[in-house]
Amino acid sequence: MAKFIIDNIEYEIPEGTRLDVICEKAGVPFSCNSGVCGTCQINILEGQDNLGELNQEEKDLAMDRTHRLGCQCVIVGGVVKASF
Ligand code: FES
Repeated sequence: MAKFIIDNIEYEIPEGTRLDVICEKAGVPFSCNSGVCGTCQINILEGQDNLGELNQEEKDLAMDRTHRLGCQCVIVGGVVKASF
């Protein structure tokens, strides 16, 4: 299991899980759900390397290792701390 902490609330989730459902639960606003609008941007405070590689949608919106799209990124293991 991996641990995703967003705004100080901890979630235990299986490795390989996309963060959209957890981010939505935590209150991150969503709109398109397909990596186009940028509404779901989250700030990665710790554990950048525990997320999968940036996908094309994230690159198109100029995301980087510390700014990711909640509807696109996947946790691969360990602990990730984020805010929005
Ligand atoms: S909800 Fe639009 S980019 Fe994530």
